[in-house]
Parts: sequence; structure tokens; C-alpha cells
Amino acid sequence: MSVKTSPPPRARPQAAREHPSGDPRFNLIDRTLKRFSYQQDALIEVLHTAQETFGFLSDDLLIYVARQLKLPLSWVYGVATFYHFFTLKPQGKHTCIVCMGTACYVKRAAEIVAALQQAFHVEPGGTTADGLLSLSTARCLGSCGLAPVLVLDGEVLGRETPESTLERVRQLLLAERSEAAPSANDDAVHVTNGGIHEPI
Ligand code: FES
Repeated sequence: MSVKTSPPPRARPQAAREHPSGDPRFNLIDRTLKRFSYQQDALIEVLHTAQETFGFLSDDLLIYVARQLKLPLSWVYGVATFYHFFTLKPQGKHTCIVCMGTACYVKRAAEIVAALQQAFHVEPGGTTADGLLSLSTARCLGSCGLAPVLVLDGEVLGRETPESTLERVRQLLLAERSEAAPSANDDAVHVTNGGIHEPI
């Protein structure tokens, strides 16, 4: 009996089965699976679709993808945890990934992480209590010439400093608050002015 060191041979399903939850978002994953004819080497593309659709890769999603591609769950989990762009936890509205590869580390990347931790009370791999900011770290992001590098809401930013990063993130969160502010002020006008519609 031989020992298998790679995933077992793919058995092409006759037809995609609906997810038992009935959640229509699984149809998007099914569409990607079909587009790649359930090829096991389409795993990364399928995981991308799953994450884009659901925001993060839950255990349920990983199991579903593993079953559909006839791959061991440990294999799928291994791929999902290897690449920094996959996340197994729900993400905040804004995401900041700081590169901690060697080139970035020697150019103060750790100080950037520490500054974000302190200013926004969030640990790497975590999300702020208000759900607005997720902070994570990554190995080399492939832009060492721009070290230190971070990715803020999908935008790659180079030659950052703790100060410049804090300012960027503060501006983002400030914009969130000012978007929320008008409705609160409107309420205040109606409640406190007793019919006199003047701003406070
Ligand atoms: S070490 Fe940070 S981009 Fe390469």
C-alpha cells in the first residue's frame, strides 16, 4: 500500500449540491467552482471568491470548499492560513496590514505596529471594539524597495513612518465619524429646540 503525499485524485462531481443553509452567497462560490470545472488547483481562486463574498473564511466555508474540491480539510486550511490575504476572522470596516518582513522590520515596521496598537487599542490579528479597524501583520509583501510597507484598505503604501500611518488611519476613522454625525445632529435639533429648527 502506497503512502499519499499529495491531495487525492480529483473526482468530478456530477452536479453541485446546494449548501444546506440555503444561503444564496454559496451560489457565487459554486459559480467559481464550475468555472474552473472543480479543478483542485483552482483552490486559491475559490477561496478568493469565498472571502470576497463572506468577508472572511469561516470553518464552514473551508469545509464546504474542501468537500466540493475533494481536498483534505487540512490542505485547504493550510493554504488559507499560509497566504496573508486570507483571513479566518471577521474583518473591520477598514484593514491595515503591516509588513514585518526583514526589510520592513529594520525600517521601523514594528514601531508602526506598536503605534497603531497603542492609539487604537487593537492587537495584530484583531479588530477594534467598534468594528472599524482590523490590524494584521504579514511576511514580505514583495515591495521591499519601498520599506516599510503597509496595505491600508487594499492600497499599498511605502516608506511609511509611525506618524504618517497614524495620521492616515486617524483620517479614515474621522471620516467614519463625520459620516455618522449629521443624523445625530438632526435629532438633537428636533429634540432640543421645541419646533424652532435651528442648529445647536
Ligand atoms: S520585507 Fe516588507 S515588502 Fe519585503
